[in-house]
Amino acid sequence: MARPTSVFVCQECGAVYPKWSGRCDACLAWNTLIEEAAAADGHPGRERGHARRLAFVPLDGEGGPLARRGTGLDELDRVTGGGLVPGSAILIGGDPGIGKSTLLLQVAARLSGSMTAVYISGEEAIGQLRLRATRLGVRTAPVQLAAATAVNEIAASLDVAKAADVVVIDSIQTMFIDGLESAPGTVAQVRASAQALIRIAKRRGFVLLLVGHVTKEGTIAGPRVLEHMVDAVLYFEGERGHQFRILRAVKNRFGPTDEIGVFEMTDAGLQEVRNPSALFLAERESQVPGSAVFAGIEGTRPVLVEIQALIAPSPLGTPRRTVVGWDSGRLAMLLAVLEARCGMSFGAADVFLNVAGGFRVAEPAADLAVAAAIVSAASGNALPPDTVVFGEVGLAGEVRAVARADARLKEAAKLGFTQAILPSRRAPADGTLDMRLHRVGLLSELLTTLKP
Ligand code: TYD
Ligand code: MG
Repeated sequence: MARPTSVFVCQECGAVYPKWSGRCDACLAWNTLIEEAAAADGHPGRERGHARRLAFVPLDGEGGPLARRGTGLDELDRVTGGGLVPGSAILIGGDPGIGKSTLLLQVAARLSGSMTAVYISGEEAIGQLRLRATRLGVRTAPVQLAAATAVNEIAASLDVAKAADVVVIDSIQTMFIDGLESAPGTVAQVRASAQALIRIAKRRGFVLLLVGHVTKEGTIAGPRVLEHMVDAVLYFEGERGHQFRILRAVKNRFGPTDEIGVFEMTDAGLQEVRNPSALFLAERESQVPGSAVFAGIEGTRPVLVEIQALIAPSPLGTPRRTVVGWDSGRLAMLLAVLEARCGMSFGAADVFLNVAGGFRVAEPAADLAVAAAIVSAASGNALPPDTVVFGEVGLAGEVRAVARADARLKEAAKLGFTQAILPSRRAPADGTLDMRLHRVGLLSELLTTLKP
């Protein structure tokens, strides 16, 4: 009898069934059976009596640092930790239309000068890809193109020696494997397709770049399992209405995960942004109440962003707290500290907070800048001109020291800022920079500092 090409696996307990059913007989969970490709050759170790013995090697053996392939795009190299590692698989996730295909076609074009770069699209026809390449100014780059969705065909083409050095699959949700009944984009298909492609990448030593669309819930469509299968996961983010895009590593087996790469979407594709602070602050009105510039750190790099607050009398019984680009729980905490320690009151006011330009701030060091924006909005007095703010705020109203104050100040000085409001604890000594430093130890001192 022919072996079945697929089986149904309970995602809760792992029990395997030849047919689908609504409930797993083993753990009694409902709706957990998912179709998967049956293993072609079973488990070799279990079937054969004597498996091949492993050849163990010492930990301190040969093999220095990983040979990486620089892409020529500094922002991408920074996020990957110095370039692409041969034989590794990288997932690039992001909302539809954010620019994933654009980025990867540009990367493939750059790399094609020195190595074999393959771009396989399951979403666009060859003509469309060529049109985009023309727009990006890379029409003559020797990229190998294919429009395909059948993983078996792709595997047959790539699973030969020296077929490619870097392979882009755009996108993993359009790929499918023969023998699985489920449609492309389903958990089973995405997982089986990725598994097959990653296996070939490891065997043939090429870099595999998988595009993955993000669902409404914010995860890469289909399964989280995809994130476990690959070596690195990069998210491409940005607000649709804004021109800049941020590439962020959320997992990286070969490098750091706190670096960001900043790009700007232009008429001719993505341009690297060498100085993100200048871009984020480009449209700032400095003498408006409720605006503060936060000197933040993203990865190894200082980044200045504008934080805006607006406070308005609330017509509602429960006033609104609206936050864009920051944590709403953290805003609630800061408002409570301002009420308890500084005698302010927000009980009858709507509070709106916005990190300008669509950037997302995650550092606690932004507390003091947010507080400054709120205090300024409430009082109607603008902050002193050319001032940056940073510091963490505790529940007792104390302003805590934050890491890398020097780097923050240096970046601010570089962009022409002349004053800083910062924690008094472990603050850098005066005189090293040509800046006026206002040190605050308690949040209440911030109010005095901001009095005109
Ligand atoms: P795309 O790379 O197709 O997004 P994804 O693959 O993530 O779905 O990007 C599409 C958007 O980018 C589209 O709205 C047009 C815009 N765009 C530019 O602004 N400039 C360009 O040079 C290109 C190629 C696209
Ligand atoms: Mg695309």
